[in-house]
Amino acid sequence: MTNGLSLEELMKEETYPEEYAEGENWKILHGDTLKLVKAFQPGIFDAVITDPPYASGGTKQNERNRTTNQKYSSMSATNALPDFDGDNKDQRSWTHWMAEWLYDVRKACKKGAPICLFIDWRQYPSITDALQWAGWIWRGTAVWDKGNSRPQKGRFRQQAEYIVWGSNGPMPISRPVSCLPGVFRYGNPQNRIHVTEKPLQLMKDVIQICEPGGLILDPFAGAGTTVLAAVMTGYRAVGIEVTDAYYKLGSDRVKIALEAEQKEDEK
Ligand SMILES: C[S@@+](CC[C@H](N)C(=O)[O-])C[C@H]1O[C@@H](n2cnc3c(N)ncnc32)[C@H](O)[C@@H]1O
Repeated sequence: MTNGLSLEELMKEETYPEEYAEGENWKILHGDTLKLVKAFQPGIFDAVITDPPYASGGTKQNERNRTTNQKYSSMSATNALPDFDGDNKDQRSWTHWMAEWLYDVRKACKKGAPICLFIDWRQYPSITDALQWAGWIWRGTAVWDKGNSRPQKGRFRQQAEYIVWGSNGPMPISRPVSCLPGVFRYGNPQNRIHVTEKPLQLMKDVIQICEPGGLILDPFAGAGTTVLAAVMTGYRAVGIEVTDAYYKLGSDRVKIALEAEQKEDEK
């Protein structure tokens, strides 16, 4: 990684992940966030922007215990994308687990660093509890309006997801970051490679909460969308991904997209 950020500067040697992928200004670590965030050096990240497993997809436990494809995808079984780990916790364990990694990740962040957490309506109350238990200041909620969703007779459409955001202590108004919108309107990505992949442009917009050129952590990297958006817009980024298939798909995607962009620039 360039800009003076090596694996040694990120974490203690005895805690290095067994595998990682990297390129100019980015790294994706293969492993469990709960373990890896404890290993980071203190105060190194300028922002945390992430989309954790929601452990949602139903109101009853048997509905939530279905696979991520059954819960979040309408693709046929033959076209199904790989399922991902960590999505079957019940409400209490999910909230506890969220609070634990959020607590550790805060120590790896600079004072005043912003955090953005994607979530759906069902887990919204729990995520705001976990954020605050972990010592972050909860500052508000932005909306991702997906536009499209299944119509439901006599009910409001569930056409939005939410971005719960906060900061690691006071967040000075003097930070070199301009006014940001509170609603983002983007449809779900076409041809996605992850069951719950976020639109690239949405992530490019959301990461603007970080100071220019800052180091962003996405502890649930999935298809690498945050990492890719960050590097494409002049930030540096570290992702963590536990599911083998998505570690590989995500790192390959970031590598290929950034190489293509570089070739385009050289023309
Ligand atoms: C909601 S998805 C993120 C999708 C991503 N925003 C994208 O655009 O592709 C959450 C990801 O977190 C990963 N995950 C779940 N538990 C994890 C853990 N303990 N450590 C690291 N990654 C984990 C899952 O494998 C999944 O890919």
